[in-house]
Amino acid sequence: MRITKSWHSHIFLAIWISITVTTQSLSLDSQEENLFPPTNITLKMNIFKLHWAWESRNDTCQIKYNVCVATEKSSRTSCRSHKSFLSWHEVKTSIFNLNERIHFKVHAECSDGKRKSEEAKLSTFLLSGDPNTAVTNFRCVWYNKEYIKCTWLPGKSASPNVNYTVLYWQENENSKMELKVPHPALFHEFLNTAKFCRPYLYKDGIPEGCLFEISNIVEELQFVVADLSNKSITPFYSWMIPVKMLQLAPPVITNISKIDQYTIYARWNVSGRKMDHVETEINLTTLNTGKSIIASVKGQNWMELKANHNEPYTINVRSRIYHYDSNHPWSEWSANMTGSGESGYWTTNVILAILIPAAVTLLMVFSIVCMKRLHSYIFPPIPDPRKSFGGTNNLRQFMKYKSAEDVWTMPEKEEICSVVLVESTPSSSLEE
Ligand SMILES: *[C@@H]1O[C@H](CO)[C@@H](O)[C@H](O)[C@H]1NC(C)=O
Ligand SMILES: *[C@@H]1O[C@H](CO)[C@@H](O)[C@H](O)[C@H]1NC(C)=O
Ligand SMILES: *[C@@H]1O[C@H](CO)[C@@H](O)[C@H](O)[C@H]1NC(C)=O
Ligand SMILES: *[C@@H]1O[C@H](CO)[C@@H](O)[C@H](O)[C@H]1NC(C)=O
Ligand SMILES: *[C@@H]1O[C@H](CO)[C@@H](O)[C@H](O)[C@H]1NC(C)=O
Ligand SMILES: *[C@@H]1O[C@H](CO)[C@@H](O)[C@H](O)[C@H]1NC(C)=O
Ligand SMILES: *[C@@H]1O[C@H](CO)[C@@H](O)[C@H](O)[C@H]1NC(C)=O
Ligand SMILES: *[C@@H]1O[C@H](CO)[C@@H](O)[C@H](O)[C@H]1NC(C)=O
Repeated sequence: MRITKSWHSHIFLAIWISITVTTQSLSLDSQEENLFPPTNITLKMNIFKLHWAWESRNDTCQIKYNVCVATEKSSRTSCRSHKSFLSWHEVKTSIFNLNERIHFKVHAECSDGKRKSEEAKLSTFLLSGDPNTAVTNFRCVWYNKEYIKCTWLPGKSASPNVNYTVLYWQENENSKMELKVPHPALFHEFLNTAKFCRPYLYKDGIPEGCLFEISNIVEELQFVVADLSNKSITPFYSWMIPVKMLQLAPPVITNISKIDQYTIYARWNVSGRKMDHVETEINLTTLNTGKSIIASVKGQNWMELKANHNEPYTINVRSRIYHYDSNHPWSEWSANMTGSGESGYWTTNVILAILIPAAVTLLMVFSIVCMKRLHSYIFPPIPDPRKSFGGTNNLRQFMKYKSAEDVWTMPEKEEICSVVLVESTPSSSLEE
């Protein structure tokens, strides 16, 4: 509580900014060689750029300045050497996280590199107040090229009646914006060019999402999230380049089917896009076990997945654009589509299950008949002496097949039988 009150007093005293200028003076012993460091560093800014300027003393050599800008937490440091004599430095605000302390340092150097000055530094914090009242997880996407959609979560210490408002600026406003000395309510000075993002999502009365249409798609957008009627709510700065944050509409699954016992085929549609540079994740859940696997595929709108035998399953998919240089957001998950795990495959299976045993049985019956006949050719029945000459037919048969040669010159009809026998296993054991 005391902390909050002290912040209040800060606000009413309008102490918005903390600036530390550290210029290290020259140590006398070494060096008349050393140059004088830059002095009186000042920062001015608007929503799109930060502008530092400094003063320097005349010196005997041609001077250049080396500058570095960094923020507190990110490891990113942007350094530059100004080749010509130039006593100011400008960067885009989108390079840095404006919610963190910004560190600037500069030193002078002779162009021949032989002499240089100590560093002069300026450290600036744009915000004041309890950082836990600012929004968190702020994120904007360009949804299906239709509109910009931003979402966030309220800060932990924000009051329950907090009214977060999202202001945005398009980059073409940049040239019209004057540079101002920064202070924690700086964005108020640019309200005349700001546009309002329309809230659409509320939770417990607190706005947590907003959207707006944009006409020009390539430019950068800058955001400030603040409560315009409560200065104790710490503002939050953010930015985006819409073409790098394009979110696809959720894909539509158009076909799932089991193409064989262990393979599911899935096909989907991504609205308004060819599939190149589209990556899709497929979530396959086996319903009996509740286990799910995620597979991913690039550049195509179908995939074959391994599946358990005959188990019902659910599939949903999501897509995103991938590029070597940008991380586009995933779409929402598609609607789920559920398969029985049996369809298509089951019918063929039933047919095969009936056909194969039937065919085998037929073949066996046929083989047995043939074998019996062959058996009678090799071991012809001994003619009944009582009937031996009783039937001319019997005698003829006996005479015809008594020699082995005769077996191989069987009538055409029987030849088919012998072929069947040679090919089937029982016949080979017979032959041996
Ligand atoms: C520092 O710079 C500001 C703005 O450029 C100027 O008004 C001020 O006089 C300078 N101070 C010194 C000590 O040079
Ligand atoms: C710097 O030197 C130039 C010429 O050498 C002179 O015209 C100028 O007034 C000097 N500036 C300062 C601040 O001494
Ligand atoms: C403004 O916000 C602070 C911090 O969340 C809260 O304590 C205060 O009650 C709010 N004031 C109004 C008028 O809502
Ligand atoms: C929230 O702020 C917006 C923008 O300032 C305003 O239009 C709206 O009326 C406010 N809502 C409430 C409930 O105060
Ligand atoms: C779904 O895919 C399967 C396998 O490729 C195919 O046999 C079937 O005809 C498709 N169904 C539809 C409705 O496209
Ligand atoms: C898939 O998308 C294409 C064009 O993108 C469309 O012609 C087709 O009808 C869609 N198919 C389904 C099943 O929605
Ligand atoms: C995949 O789907 C299942 C059930 O629909 C769900 O429980 C699981 O969380 C999903 N996995 C992911 C990574 O979304
Ligand atoms: C669809 O899947 C999600 C998880 O991916 C799950 O939370 C949801 O309940 C499922 N919906 C239906 C209708 O099965």
